[in-house]
Amino acid sequence: MKVKPDYAICELADLQKRQSLSFTLNVKDEVVSGFLVVTEQGFRAYKNSCPHWGVELNWKPDEFFNVDFTHLLCSVHGALFKPDDGECVFGPCVRQRLEPIPVKVIDGTVYYSGK
Ligand code: FES
Repeated sequence: MKVKPDYAICELADLQKRQSLSFTLNVKDEVVSGFLVVTEQGFRAYKNSCPHWGVELNWKPDEFFNVDFTHLLCSVHGALFKPDDGECVFGPCVRQRLEPIPVKVIDGTVYYSGK
């Protein structure tokens, strides 16, 4: 699948150093606001929208993990999500999921690969 250079999000090495990273892209007429996280399976991207209230999860830039880096944390009411599939396992939206965003790596750069 081809990706547009405009849809480049970050360098994979930069993501691996930071563990998580937020991004915003203009894709056609839509603004895609999401975040990337490093997981045991590699990395994942999700929309930055909690399934509980539809608000952004993080209260600090680029920080989405809980303190022991086992789960993704919604800072509003403390919901915890599994990094690899975005399923909520604790909090007010248990069994709901973060919405995945399609991404792929080409030559060390992470690209949005939807649409
Ligand atoms: S808004 Fe995320 S847990 Fe309530």
